[in-house]
Amino acid sequence: MKKRDTMAGAALLAAAAVAFVVCSSASAAGDGQTRRRCPALLPAVYVFGDSLVDVGNNDFLPPPAPRAGFPCGIDLPRGTPGRRTGRFTNGYNLADFIAQRVGFNMSPPAYLSLTPQVSLDLLSGRVGANYASGGSGILDNTGNGTITLREQIKLFANTKASMTKTELGHNRVNRLLSRSLFLISTAGNDFSTFSHGKATMSDYIANLVSTYLKHIKILYNLGARRLGLLDAVPIGSLPGIRASLVNDGACDDVANSFAQQFNALLRLEMASATAAAMPGMEYSIASIYNIISDMISNPPLDGLEEVASACCGGGKLNAEFICSATSNLCTNRSQYVFWDNVHETQAAYRRAVAAMFDSTAAAMYTEPISFHQLVTRKQVGLGAGIDLEHSLADRAAEI
Ligand SMILES: *[C@@H]1O[C@H](CO)[C@@H](O)[C@H](O)[C@H]1NC(C)=O
Ligand SMILES: *[C@@H]1O[C@H](CO)[C@@H](O)[C@H](O)[C@H]1NC(C)=O
Repeated sequence: MKKRDTMAGAALLAAAAVAFVVCSSASAAGDGQTRRRCPALLPAVYVFGDSLVDVGNNDFLPPPAPRAGFPCGIDLPRGTPGRRTGRFTNGYNLADFIAQRVGFNMSPPAYLSLTPQVSLDLLSGRVGANYASGGSGILDNTGNGTITLREQIKLFANTKASMTKTELGHNRVNRLLSRSLFLISTAGNDFSTFSHGKATMSDYIANLVSTYLKHIKILYNLGARRLGLLDAVPIGSLPGIRASLVNDGACDDVANSFAQQFNALLRLEMASATAAAMPGMEYSIASIYNIISDMISNPPLDGLEEVASACCGGGKLNAEFICSATSNLCTNRSQYVFWDNVHETQAAYRRAVAAMFDSTAAAMYTEPISFHQLVTRKQVGLGAGIDLEHSLADRAAEI
């Protein structure tokens, strides 16, 4: 265990170092790193799920949908659309860093924020959109007032219907979609919907996974062929859970074991469903669970020093109260794993995405292929990939 932790920490560190030299289109990440601009590898990114990837849809929803108000976004570069609102962290989130890895400035815009101008990009199959909604989960009754995963996928189906009405036509739309990245982060919030007494946790988890796979199959039927999934976070290690009266600062191992059960079953079911019913689907599952757990168990190695307390909040572990404009806010935000009681900082998200893409770490944290392989592999049977290979060669020459 110790050995694995050390290796994992070293891999994370290596990945984080690499992240600063590869080309990426983030011109200003608020951390003084300069990056090179490079062409997008993919036509578009379509994002679904929860607050780990929401970039502002919830700003358009009435309560009780959770909103990310100030000081969220405090470290986003000036001029970022929707700066200081929308993202449930201090800066960029996982959707932003993943989109940067494939050549965009940040996540595609929040679907509910779209202006006619930006919709033109979306309708031409370029850039994409972010349908994610903080607080949502796999189940329809998770996240009261949020856009559920089912509704997010319906919104995407509407988008696709509008795309096919343009001069692009059905075939070209399908080709563009097949090359685009579909990213989903979900499940974390579903664990708070579980109520004891109705079903066992194992039954609940089995239902979560089978419902999730139904949603994924709908996306497949709509044309998704490159799917990146982020598994369930170590819910029992989140500061808000640790700070609760029963846990008294310690990680909740039972809660973590539920997330682990879900994650293991997701891998099994995804592999068999792909083999049985989703030919041509390329997917990668990134273990955000292991990435965050390893960050927590290797503070010195991963370059993040504060792994238990939240940066923004109050009370025990600065996480008994939610983050708000009047909260206690840390100044050394790049040293914290956790931004608030349940979300990570941009510093943690950046390292996490490096671990999904860069070979040494990705071999440990992604399966069956890395996110890099997911977005660069030549796709079979779609006639796609030719111009992709070309742009990769350009990219290699540029680095
Ligand atoms: C959802 O939120 C609405 C509005 O706050 C509230 O009236 C309703 O009772 C909530 N439903 C559930 C199931 O919590
Ligand atoms: C962050 O800064 C605070 C206040 O200066 C300090 O108490 C704390 O130890 C620092 N945390 C880290 C992780 O360096």
